[in-house]
Amino acid sequence: MSMPPRSRTGSGALLAGLIIALVVAVSIILLAASGATPTSVWNSFFPVHNEGGVTDRSTSVQGLYDIVFYIAVAIFFLVEGLIVWSAFRYRRKATDTELPPQTHGNNLVEVIWTIVPTIIVVFLFALSWQTLNTVEAKVTSDVHVRAVAARFQWSFEYLDGAAPDAKVLFTQSLPVGDDGGLVLPVGAPVTIDLRSEDVIHAFYVPKFLFKRDVVPGKTNTFSFTVEDAGTYRGQCAELCGKEHGFMPIVVEVKSKEDYAKWAGEQKQKATAAADDPNKVWDVKELVAHGQQVFNANCAACHQPNGTGNAAIGAPALVGDKVVMGPRKAQIDVVLNGQNNGKMPAWRQLSDVDIASVISYTRNSWGNQAPENVVQPAEVKGERK
Ligand code: CUA
Repeated sequence: MSMPPRSRTGSGALLAGLIIALVVAVSIILLAASGATPTSVWNSFFPVHNEGGVTDRSTSVQGLYDIVFYIAVAIFFLVEGLIVWSAFRYRRKATDTELPPQTHGNNLVEVIWTIVPTIIVVFLFALSWQTLNTVEAKVTSDVHVRAVAARFQWSFEYLDGAAPDAKVLFTQSLPVGDDGGLVLPVGAPVTIDLRSEDVIHAFYVPKFLFKRDVVPGKTNTFSFTVEDAGTYRGQCAELCGKEHGFMPIVVEVKSKEDYAKWAGEQKQKATAAADDPNKVWDVKELVAHGQQVFNANCAACHQPNGTGNAAIGAPALVGDKVVMGPRKAQIDVVLNGQNNGKMPAWRQLSDVDIASVISYTRNSWGNQAPENVVQPAEVKGERK
């Protein structure tokens, strides 16, 4: 079959060149305007490599990522190169008036493009399998923590041995802030159990190069050793409701000695509180602790200065009638929530935390509630 002859304008190549130049120029201007440098653009191609993991497991995840990335780069250049090369090499010339010879089927090429991708996929499968086994490997740990996710808060129960039967030694219910977060020792194997009180959440700390879902009714477990001391920030990574964006996780990794000291103190505090549930707390103690609890849990909506955020329906606590009114009503609101969960239930906080935070709101920002102190024993009594 012959093609009808066409006249050629001769400007096609010039136009294509102009379009490419324009696209490159616009891209460079946009990147420069957004503050990118040649180095930062280059580094953005290696996000995992630059992130740099801090656990014993993260090196193997990083290794897998790098290999997959380099294979993808090689395939990209091969495929794009062939496209560009054949477009130029076999383009229609001014003298061409007929279609070139049409070929159908080529056993050699077909065998090659079947076998090569199969080899790549099998290779990546084996590598992923190996990496998964390394990441999932169970080890004997001295530190067992049950991370409990509840809308919209993390708490960490330190266990006396492996779950599920182990006794809770103490609970770290401040997810962030001074004395808060998941505190771990450096260089020691740690096992974390994940439990959800309500919906699906996810435990995600980017520096661990690891993410795991927290599923109600199922306990997911993983182990790791953090190799560098420091503070690592993470976040719930599964959309779990309105305050999903306010479920931070802070991991404080201390030296073994500092960790042992910290854990000892926490155990002692927990035992002291357990010995005497009716201990009467000093108002100063309650307010000081309550400020930490407030800033870690409540300030995101009610604001650090208690002025609230009308846009999301969080009332100002300054002069609020519940805060200034009878204690019992406020304990009920904090324990059980209000307005269909717009004010979430905070049952997962300890009696001491709830008593402290209520006392704090009753003695701050100019508030001087007539009933200004709530004791942990009262909160305990209101739990149903
Ligand atoms: Cu919990 Cu998102």
